Amino acid sequence: MDTTGTLLMPPAGSTIAGEVDAIFNLILYVSIFFFILIVGLAAFFVFKYRRRGEPGLTSGVDHNIKLELLWTIVPSIIVVMFFVVGFRLFLKMNIVPANAIEIKVTAQRWMWTFDYPDGANSVNTMVVPVNQPVKALLSSTDVIHSFFVPDFRIKMDVLPNRYTVAWFEAVRIGEYNLFCAEYCGKGHSEMLGKIKVVSEDDYKEWLEESFKVDESMPLEEYGESLYRSRACNTCHTTDGSGSVGPTFKGIYGHQVILSDLKTVTVDENYIRESILDPRAKVVAGFQPVMPTYQGRLRDREIDALIAYLKSLKE
Ligand code: CUA
Repeated sequence: MDTTGTLLMPPAGSTIAGEVDAIFNLILYVSIFFFILIVGLAAFFVFKYRRRGEPGLTSGVDHNIKLELLWTIVPSIIVVMFFVVGFRLFLKMNIVPANAIEIKVTAQRWMWTFDYPDGANSVNTMVVPVNQPVKALLSSTDVIHSFFVPDFRIKMDVLPNRYTVAWFEAVRIGEYNLFCAEYCGKGHSEMLGKIKVVSEDDYKEWLEESFKVDESMPLEEYGESLYRSRACNTCHTTDGSGSVGPTFKGIYGHQVILSDLKTVTVDENYIRESILDPRAKVVAGFQPVMPTYQGRLRDREIDALIAYLKSLKE
């Protein structure tokens, strides 16, 4: 199995990757062969029949049935063959194996959220077991995004108001890049994720772990880790600079002006409300684009984020 990739292709990390590459290479090499043949012959004839001296009589031969049939029938057979092999793989890529694990993938500007069968969820990192088919049920909460995993050779549009499906079976443990491949606004290029392929046991352990709450870690520190793992950092800075959302630096305890020109003091309740119902009180000058974390964060996690925000003094 190809683990390093080639000049043209990244490493092949899924069961269908080899077949996708085979068809790609077949079409590429057949095209190169005919390109050289046709351009080569054209160049050769241009040279061979170039004008030399006084014009003579033109040959009376104006066509050749055998040659014309040959260059019609042979390419027809080749393109029909491309269609047949391509269509077979297309079906394979679109028919999800019955034993696939279904993971709900939600795209929103500009992050990925993953919901697993028994209630676990993760942000920007999709954890999947190796050697098991995984069905990604895709939808978007806002605009069109695209779920693109080059190493798995899959790419599928992620639409609002409609579900699409992509499936894959990873063949090797490791981390693979997930890109958004549809221009979706300012943060498009930062809408990056990872597919973390782990062993069957590690996958089960990870699912169990995700229900445990780490009581040992101080709230503030826990909040800082959530700030990254829950992708708050995509839109909120901690150094005072502006981004998609207001910076977290030094806002706790301060008054902010809202888009309806009312003011509100940033306290525990305002932070909690803004996490669970982000569009309720939007700070003036910002778009109401934050997705809700309702059902995605436990109380202790919200407490931790509040503690982390408090620690970011001016
Ligand atoms: Cu989402 Cu580009």
